[in-house]
Amino acid sequence: MLAVAVGGRGVVDPAEPVLRADDEALLRGRGAFETIRVYAGAPFRLAEHLDRLATSAERIGLPPVNRLELEELARQALEAAAAPDAVLRLFWTPTPTALALVSALADHYDALRERGQRLISLRGIRADEPWLLPGVKSTSYAVNMAAEAEAKRRGADDAVFVDADGIVLEGPTTNVWWRRGRTLYTPSLELGILAGVTRAAVIELAAGTRYVVAEGAYPLGELAGAEEAFTSSSIREVMPIVELDGAPIGRGPAADELQAALRQAAEATLSQ
Ligand SMILES: Cc1ncc(COP(=O)(O)O)c(C=O)c1O
Repeated sequence: MLAVAVGGRGVVDPAEPVLRADDEALLRGRGAFETIRVYAGAPFRLAEHLDRLATSAERIGLPPVNRLELEELARQALEAAAAPDAVLRLFWTPTPTALALVSALADHYDALRERGQRLISLRGIRADEPWLLPGVKSTSYAVNMAAEAEAKRRGADDAVFVDADGIVLEGPTTNVWWRRGRTLYTPSLELGILAGVTRAAVIELAAGTRYVVAEGAYPLGELAGAEEAFTSSSIREVMPIVELDGAPIGRGPAADELQAALRQAAEATLSQ
């Protein structure tokens, strides 16, 4: 952890306690959060992340998000961290407490992008009822972390969730994509998955390429039989998939093109 800023206090020592013991974000996992990539000291698509945080908070019954406070805390924490490339996390809890955390970016993502990731499919929950919190990014992430750990235990890098009918949903912290011909396929938001900020960026950026995007409900076989596949997320960006459940998936140009386009979009934001 490089820096922490807390509502009402500002920047504090990262070793300081920052939550009340009765905060339900801790007791019940009833908090909202966002994980944001920082490029050259600036958070990428902060407004979109704050929009999603506000929606998550509303859906889990938290007080309305104080955007201005969170923006200011993010600014303070990033200034204190003074790290050009980093991870910014924003939290909003029921008390309410606002937190901005800046941590170092893990250094193995570019190597993983070169090698490509191996995924296993795991049964996940299709959030098709409001109380299953479709599209909500809450602090109840123990299931997602357990799925990632299970993938690692089985010698893979990460997991992809499928529903009871074998329909592809998303990864524990990523959205999933694959390509056949000129079409990029990705699961529809109607499946209750998280509306990834990077997913939205990839849809936008694909418009400037030769690819078209199709969103829908697709069985796992479609992903397994793809010409190439990749995940998208704020921190891992566009990350090629080279294996699914032990069977190879080919490499292709779309992942590299979209990764380059994403970096260009981040640079363009900086020069504005
Ligand atoms: C379940 C889930 N899906 C998708 C994503 C990707 O979202 P984003 O592109 O906004 O990072 C995340 C990010 O943490 C996630 O937790």
